[in-house]
Amino acid sequence: MAHTSILRQLGLSARLGVSLIVLTLLGGLTVSGIYMAVHHENRDEQPGLTMTDIRGHYAGVSVRSPLLSAIERGHPESQSPEARKVLLDWLKGDRISEDYDSLDLGDLAPAEIIASDCVSCHSAQSTGADAFPQLPLDYFDQVKKVAHSSDIRPVGIEVLAASTHTHAISLAVLSLVATGLLLLTGWPRGLTSLLVLLIGVGLALDLSGWWIARLYAGIVPMIVVGGVIFAVAVALSLLLVIADLWRPGKGT
Ligand code: HEC
Repeated sequence: MAHTSILRQLGLSARLGVSLIVLTLLGGLTVSGIYMAVHHENRDEQPGLTMTDIRGHYAGVSVRSPLLSAIERGHPESQSPEARKVLLDWLKGDRISEDYDSLDLGDLAPAEIIASDCVSCHSAQSTGADAFPQLPLDYFDQVKKVAHSSDIRPVGIEVLAASTHTHAISLAVLSLVATGLLLLTGWPRGLTSLLVLLIGVGLALDLSGWWIARLYAGIVPMIVVGGVIFAVAVALSLLLVIADLWRPGKGT
């Protein structure tokens, strides 16, 4: 059923004003999306925004050093128990950079042990059936990436509460504005009602997930799904508002 667009009955100056406000809002949302990705990106040692970063923020995670895990499971079998113990102590300590090629340790410096026990297989140039050039260990820059274990602590309850108080209110008001404008357009009701529903559901899933994740870490994907649904539906609604404002015709 076609229905009237209230927005298109507005005069030119009101339509221009509303368009500029909506564009500013879209710009702000884009920037906050980028800010969020950069802000959360470096919790784990992997580049970019990963699920571990997000899980770390809301629920906390322990990321085990891959080197430590490999050595603890007895890899490589050829390694002497003495050398293994040196590497284990080194990886479990908090002087990973300092002791890597410490002169005091001489032949027992981790760098020396890795060079003699690992690099034959773990070098970009390694070839052969049991080589593993995908994980080169020639340089400290390469070793460093897999040497650190970290416990990512979730954001503190007070910070989470402060963040909820600003976000719940500002995002809900933003949603009301976006959905209110959308309902004043002439787009089919089936489409606009669906977007309003998605915005409401997305926002509720996202924000409630922040808190549920403290008790149950398995919920973290819901935060991401809710956030994506919310962001896409809001952006689409705002674009539809602008499109409606400038569609030809008087809106009836
Ligand atoms: C004989 C060849 C060989 C030697 C020597 C060797 N590795 Fe490996 N390494 C491999 C292969 C092949 C794999 C992949 C299969 C597997 O995980 O067992 C691997 C896997 C690993 C992994 C896991 C990578 C991943 O992404 O799961 C780590 C960490 C590792 N090696 C560290 C070391 C360290 C440290 C040393 C020396 C103390 C060492 N390796 C010595 C062949 C070797």
